[in-house]
Amino acid sequence: MLKLHDVHAYYDESHVLRGVELNVNPGEVVTLVGRNGVGKTTTLKTIMGIVRCRKGSIAFDGRPIESLPSNAIAAAGIGFVPEERGIMSTLSVAENLTLPPLVRNGDGWPLERIYQTFPILKERQRAVGTTLSGGEQQMLAIARVLRTGAKLILMDEPTEGLAPVIVEQIGNVIREIKAHGVTILLVEQNVRFATGVADRHYLMAHGRIIEALTNAEMTSRETELLEHLGV
Ligand SMILES: Nc1ncnc2c1ncn2[C@@H]1O[C@H](COP(=O)(O)OP(=O)(O)O)[C@@H](O)[C@H]1O
Ligand SMILES: [Mg+2]
Repeated sequence: MLKLHDVHAYYDESHVLRGVELNVNPGEVVTLVGRNGVGKTTTLKTIMGIVRCRKGSIAFDGRPIESLPSNAIAAAGIGFVPEERGIMSTLSVAENLTLPPLVRNGDGWPLERIYQTFPILKERQRAVGTTLSGGEQQMLAIARVLRTGAKLILMDEPTEGLAPVIVEQIGNVIREIKAHGVTILLVEQNVRFATGVADRHYLMAHGRIIEALTNAEMTSRETELLEHLGV
C-alpha cells in the first residue's frame, strides 16, 4: 500500500533522510521507532509532501506520490496526525468533526461511527478545543482524519505525554480503527505500547531504517531496545 525506496530529504543543506526503505501492507499497523532526532517525524512529513523527497520514490497504492503537493497526497487517501495534533482550539468538538474536508467520497467515517469508537468525544461534543485534555485532543485529532476518509493514517507519537490509562484508550482506538480496515504507520517511543498495537516495526537510526522486526522479535528484545532508544 505504501512503499518508500531510497528516500532522501534535507533541511537546507542538512541531509536528514539518507535512503529510507520501508513498506506498509493494507490493513497493517506498523511502527517506526528510534531515538530522538533520527528522522522519524521527517519521514512522515516527507510521505505527506510537507518536506520534499529530493531523491528516491514513494508509492501509494502503486502510484508515485513523491512529487505531489500535500493536498493531492491527502486526496489520494493518506491522513496525518501530527505531534502537535492540529485541532482548532476555538471550535467545539462537534465543529472540529464537521469541518474536515471529505477527501474521498464515501470513505469518510459517519459521525455516528466516530462517536461509537470515541465515546469521550460524544460526551464532550460541545466542549471547545482549549478545554480538552491532552488525551481528548489526541482522540479528536485522530477522529478528524477518519472523517476525511483516509485509508492510511500516519500518526506521530500519539501517546506522548499522556497518562497510562489514556494511553490504553488510545491503544483500544487504534485496534478498533484497524478492525475497520484502516492502515496505520505510527511513530512511537513507548515500546510496550508499540508491541500491543502493531503487527511489525522498523527501527530507525541516522536517517535510515536499520532493522525490520516482527512483533514477536520486538517483544523478546524489549529490554535491549529500550536501552537503544534511551527512554
Ligand atoms: N524544521 C527543521 N529545520 C531544520 N532541521 C530540522 C527541522 N526539523 C527537524 N530537524 C532536524 O532533523 C533531524 C531529524 O528530526 P526529526 O525527523 O524531527 O527526528 P525524530 O522525529 O526522529 O525525533 C534532527 O536532527 C532535527 O534536529
Ligand atoms: Mg519526532
